[in-house]
Amino acid sequence: MIASTMSDSKKNLSPTSHTRRYIVDSSLGVLKILLIVLFAELCAWAYQTTLPPPPTKLGSPDGLPLTSPRIKLHNGRNLSYIESGVPKDVAKFKIIYVHCFDCSKYQNPFAFSASRDVIEELGVYIVALDRPGYGESDPDPKRTVKSLALDIEELADELNLGEKFYVAGYSMGGEVIWSCLKYIPHRLQGAVIISPAVNYWWHNLPSNLTNDAYSRQLQQDQWSLRVAHYLPWLTYWWNTRSWFPGFSVITQNPAIFSQADIEVVTKLNAMITDPTQATLMKTQPRLQGEFESIHRDMNIGWGKWEFDPLDLENPFENTNGSVHLWMGDEDRIVPVTLQRYITQQLGWIKYHEVVGGGHTFAFADELGSDILKALLKVK
Ligand SMILES: *[C@@H]1O[C@H](CO)[C@@H](O)[C@H](O)[C@H]1NC(C)=O
Ligand SMILES: *[C@@H]1O[C@H](CO)[C@@H](O)[C@H](O)[C@H]1NC(C)=O
Ligand SMILES: *[C@@H]1O[C@H](CO)[C@@H](O)[C@H](O)[C@H]1NC(C)=O
Repeated sequence: MIASTMSDSKKNLSPTSHTRRYIVDSSLGVLKILLIVLFAELCAWAYQTTLPPPPTKLGSPDGLPLTSPRIKLHNGRNLSYIESGVPKDVAKFKIIYVHCFDCSKYQNPFAFSASRDVIEELGVYIVALDRPGYGESDPDPKRTVKSLALDIEELADELNLGEKFYVAGYSMGGEVIWSCLKYIPHRLQGAVIISPAVNYWWHNLPSNLTNDAYSRQLQQDQWSLRVAHYLPWLTYWWNTRSWFPGFSVITQNPAIFSQADIEVVTKLNAMITDPTQATLMKTQPRLQGEFESIHRDMNIGWGKWEFDPLDLENPFENTNGSVHLWMGDEDRIVPVTLQRYITQQLGWIKYHEVVGGGHTFAFADELGSDILKALLKVK
């Protein structure tokens, strides 16, 4: 009793120093644990936000309905395509068309600016494909700079286009044509590259030119390209935040369109009178979600390339095939200075610069007819 009283009184003398320390210690401990848990939660949440949702399913039984035919590649992926021009079996020239960034097989300049007469006179058949992850083509999570060239070759064989065929590509699809020249040159009869995207990290481009061209891009676009190149795992997150300005091509920032582009787009909108076509053009590009279409496209287009187009040799040295590159000198999306440098280095490319042309010049004013005539060497 006494002892207890003693100790009680002792306790009472310095009533809480022990207990307080204990309470302080234990609440510090709890706080630490709480902080660790919170931090872990935050990391998990942050990590989650960088992960894209799975792509929307296509085709029966439980996916979106398909609007056009598909071929099945050897690895099980399906590629969607649409044919136009003269029938394949009477065609003199067969062209595979590769679409731009945030587009689909329905955004094909030849469908708008190549006249029916020219196409029939020349005997041109055009097949436009949806690139993997775009429109109605299955995503290719293993997509590389090379894989799309091989997909194109397989499409040609599935459709029986014969030993050789032409390829055409616009903007980001134009960049894909460099891969065709690199990996399937023996299958090509000729190629046309229209307003092609340029990868600022191709090692043969002189840094004074790339620095100058890069610094003229909008700040937000410089950042989006840096993320795609250096931190591709962050591309989805970066481009889905609304509290800072995103990549201008995705957000349709008017600043990247020249006056010429605005005129072309106005004409184009007036030409699209069929509401079904208008809806398809609008909804197909990101039909399966943004990640497998536009974000993966950025990561590949501006990622690390295993070759540099400036190292390519003329694939048609001993034949009469040719490669043409068309570019508007008022393109605000792709710098014309870099295109001039590339075509000067690759003397075998036939370069056509359209004075006053913006990024979209190929979609209006019979330019599609001109491009076809030059490619197919007809006056
Ligand atoms: C390709 O289409 C078939 C149906 O025609 C489907 O069973 C298959 O899962 C598709 N491939 C992929 C990779 O989605
Ligand atoms: C870039 O540097 C090269 C020499 O390395 C020079 O010949 C060229 O004129 C420069 N171009 C510009 C636009 O400064
Ligand atoms: C290339 O030459 C072959 C035979 O000499 C000819 O049949 C073909 O039409 C030519 N192609 C072009 C694009 O001129």
